[in-house]
Amino acid sequence: MKQRIEKLTEAIRSASIQTPEELEAFRIEYLGKKGALAELFEHFKEVPAEEKREVGQLVNQLKNLAAESYEHWKAHFESVPLASSAPVTDLTRPAILTPPGAFHPLTLVKKEITAIFTRLGYTVSEGPEIEDDWHNFSALNFPPEHPAREMQDTFFIDKNPEIALRTHTSSVQVRVMENQKPPIRTISPGRVYRNEAISARSHCFFHQVEGLYIDRNISMAHLKHDLYFFAREMFGPETRIRLRPSYFPFTEPSAEMDVSCNICGGKGCNICKYSGWLEIMGCGMVDPNVLENCGIDPDIYSGFAFGMGYDRIAMLKYQIRDIRLLSENDLRFLSQFVSG
Ligand code: DAH
Repeated sequence: MKQRIEKLTEAIRSASIQTPEELEAFRIEYLGKKGALAELFEHFKEVPAEEKREVGQLVNQLKNLAAESYEHWKAHFESVPLASSAPVTDLTRPAILTPPGAFHPLTLVKKEITAIFTRLGYTVSEGPEIEDDWHNFSALNFPPEHPAREMQDTFFIDKNPEIALRTHTSSVQVRVMENQKPPIRTISPGRVYRNEAISARSHCFFHQVEGLYIDRNISMAHLKHDLYFFAREMFGPETRIRLRPSYFPFTEPSAEMDVSCNICGGKGCNICKYSGWLEIMGCGMVDPNVLENCGIDPDIYSGFAFGMGYDRIAMLKYQIRDIRLLSENDLRFLSQFVSG
């Protein structure tokens, strides 16, 4: 009996199976109801009592070997379709269409803004979303007691007052000025975070584009030119702008820019709250303290900066009524932006 087991072991080990039909023959030969193993079990009762233990083990090993080989070959044939059994491809059939992907509405708006400023010679710079106090606040001339530094306005990391999620993209201005020499002309789009209640109109994260232009003899007139160009490119050639005096720690003088409402053309509607104007950004001449903090000599250089949120621009443009739709990844919403 032992000899027979040895022979069968050898035969199973060296079996070379080429087709699923051969595999079925293998199964019947060794594992079938009348196969070699069934036969061995049949003769097991004739094995003398003192050898039963040893022979029993050998028979079991053989059975495992046969079963494992069978599974191995079976998996092999399942994963490799055989040329002969593969379905015939009809090359004249029309192709199955792959649904086109889509850009997110925020990406569409970001690309549009970036394209406009790129035409004016601006580069694109990015910075980290986790920022230190210096880049988000101190270098930008925020006084130590400024309310933005409070926990209820800013997300600090591990309650560490030195590290926070950036509250605006103005932090990237600082990084650019620290690392580049004027002339500097750059925009920085990205996500920002503020500890605010989430509603249809505001979220605890949103998106801004920062702009920065530093060179010799840069004035408010240059600022106005670039922003007017941007507004007409973005909202249409009829668009008018107005600058209202405002305050930011990092600009002096500071202004808020409004564009004429492109929904009603400035006549007044519920989108512009019947004022005819939409407030879209803050801007101003970079405060000399900020230039100095970033290693740029304010006696030689001057410049302007601006910052705008573009979630609201996307909402206006695509008539999105709830800001939360922009981050919920609902395919019913996203698939509306598929083009082509
Ligand atoms: N950082 C400001 C904010 O988040 C926006 C801003 C205002 C950016 C004026 C600027 C600027 O660069 O000059 O509200």
